Amino acid sequence: MTKTFGAGLALGIIGTILLAVAGWLTVAYSGAYNVAASDRHADAVRWTLDTTMHRSVASRADGAGLPESFPEDLVAEGAQHYAHSCAHCHGTPGGDPADWSRGMRPEPPQLTEAAGGWSPAEIRWIITNGIGMSGMPAFGPTHAPGEIVALTAFVTSLPGLTAEDYARLSDAADP
Ligand code: HEC
Repeated sequence: MTKTFGAGLALGIIGTILLAVAGWLTVAYSGAYNVAASDRHADAVRWTLDTTMHRSVASRADGAGLPESFPEDLVAEGAQHYAHSCAHCHGTPGGDPADWSRGMRPEPPQLTEAAGGWSPAEIRWIITNGIGMSGMPAFGPTHAPGEIVALTAFVTSLPGLTAEDYARLSDAADP
């Protein structure tokens, strides 16, 4: 009896795994999944990508070496880098992102709002490493650690900034 049950269970598990592998290969090879960026992601796909991304960033980010608070000159330096490298995808306080970035899937979020959901350590991790399969580039290979801390300081401060603050900060950082 126990033996038969054990064998049945093993067969059931193997059968389920084979079905899952067959389903996965069918999706990959059949061309059934629409990869067009002109279509919105289905809710289930969006949920899977979002949840995987949030958990992945949270489990990898650490705050080592980040200051407790960010002085205004560091935030201003970050504003300068942001204007060059990020604003066309993520917008600025009072400023829209470039039109073409609205055609990306996922659409780059307005960081004036979205940045509030992340800690400074997580923001630094995202800027350094990027987010695979999303169009969010890794800036670690092209930016010095100090520039990334300045960007982190600016992005962390973004949710509280007005258009006037942004203009003042970017001007202050102009050489
Ligand atoms: C080519 C477009 C592009 C550029 C340039 C870009 N990003 Fe992104 N970024 C994205 C996309 C797309 C996402 C959304 C990823 C996702 O949801 O999986 C994202 C996500 C983020 C997030 C997480 C926000 C959230 O809640 O999903 C942060 C923080 C971020 N970017 C910061 C930056 C900073 C800082 C820069 C400049 C140094 C930058 N990005 C440049 C496209 C871009």
